[in-house]
Amino acid sequence: MLVAPSMLSADFGNMARDVKAIEKWGADIVHCDVMDGVYVPNITFGMPMVKALKANSNLTIDAHLMITLPEKYVGAFCDFGADVVTFHPDASKDVQGAIDIIKSKGKKCGLVVNADRPFSIVEPYLSQIDMLVVMTVQAGFGGQKFMPDRLDIVRMGAEERKNNGYRYLIEVDGGVSESNVSQIKAAGADIVVAGSAVFKSENPELTIRKLHA
Ligand code: DX5
Ligand code: ZN
Repeated sequence: MLVAPSMLSADFGNMARDVKAIEKWGADIVHCDVMDGVYVPNITFGMPMVKALKANSNLTIDAHLMITLPEKYVGAFCDFGADVVTFHPDASKDVQGAIDIIKSKGKKCGLVVNADRPFSIVEPYLSQIDMLVVMTVQAGFGGQKFMPDRLDIVRMGAEERKNNGYRYLIEVDGGVSESNVSQIKAAGADIVVAGSAVFKSENPELTIRKLHA
């Protein structure tokens, strides 16, 4: 299992320090939660923060865009240093166009199934994506309770991948902890996002090691 700590739970006054810390603790990916206050009822940060995190890390930068009309901004997130850009198809009026922009920039592209959405919203694009993100909380805030029923979406993603030879990695986002990572793995996920579990841990290095298992 790869581990992607969410910078949403880091100390916003010490982002360079914290992004260096997760690398030292053994994290694999830097997860950046971008929120616009429209698609979700919360606002976080935009492209300049992604650029700053990239400048302070050797890890893959994963930009999770919870924004309306992502097709307007995906190119900018690529230019500012994101290695993987994921967005919510239900927030977009041009899903194919957004995928095409990310690919034209030579970056990896992913689609997100929010916790109130069916698997069918990503189905038409599965052959083209590098990452399938399955939300196990409703997008918008860190520190929410894990929704185990949403592992059905992970199972569907894993099944479709196996049956069709697709190559996307499956990332589970929301409420992940040491206590549920084994069921997430059993469902077929490859990556877990962990915000509070890592940054509120008394021993983040040990927490990341346990999430790797
Ligand atoms: C929710 C975000 C998640 C969240 C994860 O909208 O996409 O990445 O920050 O935080 P925890 O692990 O605390 O649920
Ligand atoms: Zn996220």
